[in-house]
Amino acid sequence: MTPAPLVDGFGRVVKDLRISVTDRCNFRCTYCMPEEGMQWLARDQVLTFEEIERIARVAVERWGVESIRLTGGEPLVRAHLPVLVAKLAALGVDLALTTNGTSLGLLAGELRRAGLKRINISLDSLRPDRFVALTRRDALDQVLDGIDAALAAGFDPVKVNVVMIRGVNDDEAVEFATFGRDRGVQPRFIEFMPLDADGAWTLDQVVPAAEIVAAIGAVYPIEAVSHGPEPAARYRYLDGGGEFGVIASVTEPFCGNCDRVRITAEGTFQNCLFAVDEVDLRAVLRGGGSDDDLATAMSGEVARKWAGHSIGKVTFVKPPRSMSQIGG
Ligand code: 5AD
Ligand code: SF4
Repeated sequence: MTPAPLVDGFGRVVKDLRISVTDRCNFRCTYCMPEEGMQWLARDQVLTFEEIERIARVAVERWGVESIRLTGGEPLVRAHLPVLVAKLAALGVDLALTTNGTSLGLLAGELRRAGLKRINISLDSLRPDRFVALTRRDALDQVLDGIDAALAAGFDPVKVNVVMIRGVNDDEAVEFATFGRDRGVQPRFIEFMPLDADGAWTLDQVVPAAEIVAAIGAVYPIEAVSHGPEPAARYRYLDGGGEFGVIASVTEPFCGNCDRVRITAEGTFQNCLFAVDEVDLRAVLRGGGSDDDLATAMSGEVARKWAGHSIGKVTFVKPPRSMSQIGG
């Protein structure tokens, strides 16, 4: 089958599929989960590897989807994840993973051999006490070892996602830059979005990407790397010390270039990170639906995709799922 691009009502082509492989996480980050934790999905509610592979195959074969990112929860708490990685890598896509890094010491090599191409490790503080307060887990050293394991396994670049929150970790931009330069990893500073579990997000907690660039630029001379439609704006150190990126998801939304759709762990398809509506692909899969039925369910949702989020405006509706259930 020759792929024909899947285009939404605003002319944006779907190229990137993000698949949550589990809603479970071994952290309970304060901005991501309520203190009492989450009610996990029962195992039989979560898509099997075969079901995930089938959805991905339809998207790749019909529409030429080019990249797939595995998310969670924490994707590496899903047993045998390298088996799924191998299945998806066989589809010929650019396969990526976003992880909290705690299991990379064990799994980085195996993931790489299974065909994983790219890796992003979430880490919001380099200070041990702050890390514990943010994640409710004493695992900073384990994450740092995980970053080293990813480098040793040959992932290049290794990106470190840092969600900056005013009054929480907004004084660490330069420390993360230094860390990135020393270890040979690329920090990517992400503006805090209203996807927290308890709805406590306010606009004044957002640290504008421009402020982070200025703080780092005051210490290390940098220049902008010209970039395409991707969300991250990249900067290079003039002394050759590598680069970092900023994702201005709130102050400069990139919705106009959005090429993403998502599948939740329980198999619903979402046309946006902030989607309020979703379509149940698991019901199609388990109800004996055909590949055409799956494709129709997905393309119908893409046709309904909106122009973009309206964070900070009165029209913004907080979506029902928090980031711990979507996974980035
Ligand atoms: N705003 C921005 N990024 C977030 N992440 C989690 N919650 C938010 C939020 N409210 C990030 C994680 C990780 C990725 C999965 O998404 O820190 O890097
Ligand atoms: Fe795309 Fe929705 Fe994110 Fe905007 S908010 S970039 S439309 S996923």
